[in-house]
Order: sequence, then C-alpha cells, then structure tokens
Amino acid sequence: MRLMNIASPLTASLVTGSFVLVLGLTACGNETKTPKPVKAQATANKIVKNDKFTYANYDKVRMTHLSLNLDVNFDEKVLDGTATIDFKVIDPTAFTLQLDTKDLTIRSVQGMSADGQWSALSYNLNDEDELLGTMLAIPFSKGMNKVRIDYRTSPTAEGLQWLSPAQTAGKKHPYLFSQAQALNARTMTPVQDTPAVRITYDATLRVPDGLLPLMSAEQGEKDENGEYHFKMPQPIPSYLLAIAVGDIKFKAINDTIGVYAEQYILDAAAEEFSETPLMEEANTKLYGPYRWGRYDLIVLPPSFPFGGMENPRLSFMTPTLIAGDKSLTNVVAHELAHSWSGNLVTNSSWRDAWLNEGVTSYVENRVMEDLYGEERAVMEQYLALEDLKRDLANAKRPELTHLKLPVDMDSPDDAFTQVTYVKGQFFLIFLEERFGRAAFDPFLKKYFNHFAFQSITTEDFIKYLHDELHVKNPDALTREELDAWIYGPGIPDTAKDPKSSAFAKVDAARTAWLGGGSAGDTSAWSTHEWLHFLNNMPESLTLAQLKKLDDDFKLNGHQNAEIAFAWYMQAIKGNYSNVDAELEKFLMNVGRGKFIYRLYGALASLNDEAREWAKGVYAKARPGYHPIAQRRIDAIFAKYNE
Ligand code: BES
Ligand code: ZN
Repeated sequence: MRLMNIASPLTASLVTGSFVLVLGLTACGNETKTPKPVKAQATANKIVKNDKFTYANYDKVRMTHLSLNLDVNFDEKVLDGTATIDFKVIDPTAFTLQLDTKDLTIRSVQGMSADGQWSALSYNLNDEDELLGTMLAIPFSKGMNKVRIDYRTSPTAEGLQWLSPAQTAGKKHPYLFSQAQALNARTMTPVQDTPAVRITYDATLRVPDGLLPLMSAEQGEKDENGEYHFKMPQPIPSYLLAIAVGDIKFKAINDTIGVYAEQYILDAAAEEFSETPLMEEANTKLYGPYRWGRYDLIVLPPSFPFGGMENPRLSFMTPTLIAGDKSLTNVVAHELAHSWSGNLVTNSSWRDAWLNEGVTSYVENRVMEDLYGEERAVMEQYLALEDLKRDLANAKRPELTHLKLPVDMDSPDDAFTQVTYVKGQFFLIFLEERFGRAAFDPFLKKYFNHFAFQSITTEDFIKYLHDELHVKNPDALTREELDAWIYGPGIPDTAKDPKSSAFAKVDAARTAWLGGGSAGDTSAWSTHEWLHFLNNMPESLTLAQLKKLDDDFKLNGHQNAEIAFAWYMQAIKGNYSNVDAELEKFLMNVGRGKFIYRLYGALASLNDEAREWAKGVYAKARPGYHPIAQRRIDAIFAKYNE
C-alpha cells in the first residue's frame, strides 16, 4: 500500500486493526465488503459500522434530520407527540430504517412518499435489551425519505428526570431535565443513537404555563399558540439532544453568553461564571472560531448527576460548582472546550471516547493556563493525574486502560474513566512537548477545522497527526511510543511528570502537621492546595488525627463541595463517625455522581456497620437522585448481596 512506502515510524500503525483509508477504499472493521470507491473527503467511519451500542443500520440508511413536536406532560411525567425523521439511503438495496428506542410507547408510524402523501407503515419492535433498548425497524418503499412516529416516553426513562415542585429550590413548579449521553437519547425519542450519525433538529414544545423550556438549540420566542420553537441547524450527534423545563430565569454575562438558573442561585451563578467570555476568547484564539452562535450555561438542580454536560449552545452544569471563589470553573472551561472537541469533531464510537474527553481535558487545561497562568494549570494536571492513578489501580482489565478501547467493552460507562480523560490529556501533552507548541497549536486548530461536523475514529486522528505533523518532523516520536499511548495499558513512561512548587510546599506542610506540628499559614491556600493536602494523607489516619484535622481546618460541612468530598473520603477511611450528620446532609443534597458513587462505594466497602448506615441514607436519598445515579448506586450495594 502506498502508505507503507512513506518512510516513517508512524505509518505501520496506521494500517493495523480496523483502520482504513486514503486510497479511496473502504476496508472492513467487523464486516467483509468488497472495497468500493468513496468520495475523497469521506473518512472510513462514514461507511463502516463501528458502533456496537446501536441498532441503527446507519451504514445503509441514515437519518439526517429530526423534527420533534411534543407535549411536556408533568402530570404523567412523559414527553408525548411525534418525531419526524428525514433519512437518506446509502445502500440502494436497503429498505428498512432501523432506529433505537428504549422504554418508548410507539402508537403508530407513517411514511411520506415521493408525492408528499402520508400513509401508515407497519413496523417491528424487537425484544428489549437491558442496555440497548428496543430496535424499531421500519420497512419503507422506494423513494420514501421521511417517516413520522407517534410516541410517548416512559415516566421512568433513564434520560429524563422529572422533579416535583418540592424537589426544586423554588418549591412552586416542577422541573424536567434530560441527560442523553451516552445511550439515553433513545429514551427521549426514536433516533439513530450513535455518535457516528449527525443530525440537524427542530422542535415544537408545549409546556405548562409559567414554565420556560430550553433546548440545545436556537431558542425561539413563544408563539401566539403558546408553543415554543427550537432549531439546531448544525449537524450534531444524538447524545447532544437536550431539554430542560422549569421555573428558569436568565441573566446575561455579555451579549452572547449568559446563565439560566432558578432564581435563588441566578446572581451567584452569573458571578461565579463571569469569566466565561474570557474562556471563549482564549479558546477561539488557540483553536479557531466558536461555531455555535450563543453560549449559555444552565445551572440545574443538585440532582444533576454530572459536573457538566456539553449540550451545544447550552451547557448543563451542577450547582456544586458555585463555590463563591471561581475555584471550580475549570468545568466551565471543559464544557465550553467541547464546542471544539466533541461537538464539532466527534468520536464516532464510544471506543474512541478519548477524542471527546481527552482532547477536551487538554484544551480545558490550555484555556485555564491562558487565563490563570501555568501554576494553576499544572496543579490541575497534577490532581487529574492522581485521579488517573486511582482509576488505573481499580481497572477491571488492562484493555480498559488503552486509549483505543476494546471492541468487547460491556458498556459506554467503561469509556468514561480517567483513562479517557486524563491519559488522553497527557497524550496530547506528550505530543505538544515532542512537536513544540509552535507546531502543535496550529495543528490542533487545523484538525478542528478539517474534521468540523464530522465523527471520526482514533485512527483518523493518528493518520491526520502523521500527515500534518509527523512527516514534517519524523524524529519527534517513534511508532512504539505512539502505540504505547493508544494501544497499550497504563501510563506510558513518556508521560510528563507535572511539577508544582505550590504542591511541594503543601507536601511539606502536611509532613509537619502529621508530625504533630503546625501546617503553617494556610490562609492563602486555593481549593487545589487543600485537595492536594487532603488527598495525600497516609493510608489511614487515627481518630485523633481526623478530629484534629477537622478542628484545625473546619472541614466538616465545608461549602466547597470538592473539599467537603475529599474530607469525607478521609473520614470514611478512618471510620470517623463524627462526620455522619454532615455527610448525610451532603448525600441527601448532592446528586453529582463523581462524589456520591465514591462515597457510597467507600462506605459500603468499609464494614457492615458503615454499609448499613449508608443503605439507610440511600433509602432516603434515592427518590431524589437521577435515574442514572440510582442505577449506579443500586449496583454498588448489589455487589454485597451476591
Ligand atoms: N460529557 C461529559 C459528561 C458525561 C460523560 C455524560 C459520560 C455522560 C456520560 C462532560 O463533558 C464531563 O466530562 N463532565 C465532567 C467535568 C470535567 C471537568 C471532567 C464531570 O461531569 O465531572
Ligand atoms: Zn467532557
């Protein structure tokens, strides 16, 4: 093959595995096909089906647009109405459109023929799979390219959380928000639920009086019928479909950026996130224009199970970021960075999740460095690396520590470990060091532009890296070094070792404190320094040390959720039950998975007594948790019943 003739240590790896390319040929991942010519621009994944977490036959028939017309019914906790789907036929011998659904009630399906007439279509639903849901297969006739599905969601849809008025801060109105990533768009609407397929969408929503609906789209005004209209003209993967409905207020930060939240936290949120415009500027300067029009943030109720979610034009954020001192705003930088890595250039399957989360973590950190300087950026790298080491120690199997994840991974949940985020980030830091920022920054900018609005594989990235950067500087790295990052386990020995002088001082303070002395003047410590101080305590502290820790530094009930969490983890390890009242409050009030999965996990594994206590708290807290969090914590306790 031509590629093999380019003298470069990198090239051989480009033709391994299921990778395919350049010569205008498609090759085969999990299917055998005769190679056929494709358009010069086309990348392999446009033809080969490489996502096993979807029923969609998107290599043959592919949806291009989704039009939703829905009642948001809080009484029954359902979205109810129609989804109209435009599709194009890629393989002319295919006459079935295969869609993903999960827990949907399908009432009827119609198809529009070439003359514009609608007629009823028969359809098939297969048996439900616990992870994937149910395939909706719609046979269509020649010339047909539009179907309409009359459906409703289930009150227990995993992608939707319906909060009663009592579960909101304002207490007067109910609230709904969605979380489609990774496989839950299919619990909201029939869709080809794979990041390999990009769709534009529009929506008409009817909501109860007094409530404001928002979507990951351009916002229309309420019309004379009381309906709201939304439009997403850029093609996005289904996991970026998003909706929030509630008694939501808005505050502008500047002309194109603002915050939505319940009234109680609106001003605080606008203040906490006031530097978002600077982040957007830094991002644009480094990696090219922001392509999505407005950028708004919505602060959701505390049961939102993530730190943030990069829904286009409208990132969803946890209220635990509102610390009062802007110390946790790297999550804003992260979700904003997804407007380039993830939303613009998308992983084509969850096996390639590092293209979303690893590249984003790198971009996030570059933006933080730009705004706040190298010291803060390095502290954040250091804390991230410690998280990665913990996840590596707990990895279920070594293949799950590769950047390119194994074809037989059980669930996309396995794709969202610190491997994907932090090993991915450190891979780009490695490339940056080897090629130099002068070459690497323009490369990444060009990459976002080149693959804009496409879904790509790890191998597409590697090939582009090779063509754009490595051929010009072949000595920068070897194929073995590259493969160790992508197809090898753990942290390669070429990884940067972040050095923080601030953390070195914290280490000295900790040593002094553990020796019975004073930690010195900690009054100017940032959140990061506190986290480093706490996370690196010896394996188990005595009850007396834990008491002194709390007495000296007032950690119990700390208003910064990250610091409070780090403290509770130490307290649980040392079985320090004086924290129980505050810990219970935390578990009752916070639904962010990053905290509560590890807290319940630590309590459950400590001893029978702690586990029973945790089960009791969980029984009370569970109804307020998001369905995703309920599933994850049920699984934690289930391990002990086996
Ligand atoms: N896209 C993720 C959130 C996500 C991951 C949702 C997997 C569903 C499945 C988001 O961009 C994210 O990574 N959020 C992080 C914050 C970040 C700073 C690491 C989070 O929620 O903690
Ligand atoms: Zn992310």
